[in-house]
Amino acid sequence: MKINEFNNQLSLIKYIDSFKKKCDKIFLLTQKSIVDYHKFIKKLNVCIFICEEGEKCKSIEQYKTIINFLSIEECNKNSIIIGIGGGTVTDLCGFVADSYMRGIKHIFIPSTLLCMVDASVGGKTALNFNKVRNLIGSFKEPKEVIIYLPFLKTLNQDEIINGYAEIIKYSLILDYQLFQYLEKNISKLINKPFNDDIHNIIQKCIKHKLRIVKKDKFDNNIRMILNFGHTVGHALESYYDFNLSHGKAVIYGMKISSYLSYKNNQIDENDYIRISKLIEQLNLPKLKDINSKKFNNLMNNDKKNIDNKLNYIMLNKIGEASIVENFDKKEILNALEII
Ligand SMILES: NC(=O)c1ccc[n+]([C@@H]2O[C@H](COP(=O)([O-])OP(=O)(O)OC[C@H]3O[C@@H](n4cnc5c(N)ncnc54)[C@H](O)[C@@H]3O)[C@@H](O)[C@H]2O)c1
Ligand SMILES: [Zn+2]
Repeated sequence: MKINEFNNQLSLIKYIDSFKKKCDKIFLLTQKSIVDYHKFIKKLNVCIFICEEGEKCKSIEQYKTIINFLSIEECNKNSIIIGIGGGTVTDLCGFVADSYMRGIKHIFIPSTLLCMVDASVGGKTALNFNKVRNLIGSFKEPKEVIIYLPFLKTLNQDEIINGYAEIIKYSLILDYQLFQYLEKNISKLINKPFNDDIHNIIQKCIKHKLRIVKKDKFDNNIRMILNFGHTVGHALESYYDFNLSHGKAVIYGMKISSYLSYKNNQIDENDYIRISKLIEQLNLPKLKDINSKKFNNLMNNDKKNIDNKLNYIMLNKIGEASIVENFDKKEILNALEII
C-alpha cells in the first residue's frame, strides 16, 4: 500500500484525474458535509455518490443503495472507487470495494484526523448491523492512502479531539518520544490543528499502525494492542447510545487502562500521573454514575472477549503495551468511578 501526500488542491485534482489513464471509470464516495466545505470535490470529473452522514453511512441499506448505483453506472473490474471522508466513509467504501464483483481497486483520501492516523490504514472494512457496530466486515487494504492536510482546517474541535485520542493511544503503547512531545504541546495542537508539526505526527502514527498490521494482519495477537482503551471505550459508546464520540470514549477507556496498569504494578505512580495530566488537558467532563450491570453486559460484546474471558490491553511503561489474558472484568467495573 502506498501513502501519498498533497497539500495543494490543484495537484490533488490533477492526481485524481491521472487515474483516468489507468481505469475506465472513477467512482467517489463521500458525504455532503465534506463537499459543502471542500467544493472542489464536486467539480472532479468522477461519478459521485453522496453517503448518509454519521454511522447511518455504514448501514446495510446504504450498502444496497451503493451497489445498485455502481451497477447502474456500470462500475466494473477496471474501475476504481475513491473514498473521501472520515472513518464511516472509508469503512463503508472498503467493504463495497471488497465485495462488489468480488473486489475492485480502491483508494482512501481521509478527511478527518482520526481517519488519517487510524481508520484509513490497516484494511479493516465494516458495516453496522442491528445497532452492533462493525458486526459485518472484512480485510481489504486500499491501493493507496492520500493525505490532504487542508481537510483539517474545517474540522470542529470535537473531531480534532477524536483524532488526538488515537494519537495519544499510539504514544502510550508504542512511542515514548511522541508522548513527551504531546504532554508539552497538546493544548496548543488542539487549538491549532493545521500546524507545522501535524505532518510528522500523522506520518508517525501511520508508520506505527502499518508496522503492527504487517505483523498481524488478521488481529489475532500483536494487533490487539491497538485496542488499548477500546474495551471500555466501545462499551461507553454503546452505553451512551453513540452520543459519546469514539475518540472521547477511548480517552476515558485509556484513563481506566492506565489506572489499572498502575494498580497492578505494571507502571509506576509517576507514569500514571503524567498520563492523567495529559488526559486532563483535553478537558473532558467527569461522567455521571455508570450502572455497572448494564456496562458489564455491554463489555461482553467486545470482540476480544472469547469464552467470556477478556483480553485486556495494559501498559508496561509509557510507550509499551502488553495483552493480559483472562483479565478480571470486576477490576474494570470497580475502576469506573475514576472517569
Ligand atoms: N477501519 C478501522 O480500522 C477503523 C479505525 C477507527 C475507527 N473506525 C471507524 O471510523 C468511524 C469514525 O470515524 P470518524 O471519527 O472519522 O467519523 P465520521 O466519519 O463520522 O466523520 C465525522 C464527521 O465529520 C464530517 N467530516 C469529515 N471530514 C470533514 C472535514 N474535512 N471537514 C468538516 N467535516 C468533516 C463527517 O461528515 C462527519 O459528520 C467509526 O465508524 C469507527 O468504527 C474504523
Ligand atoms: Zn479507535
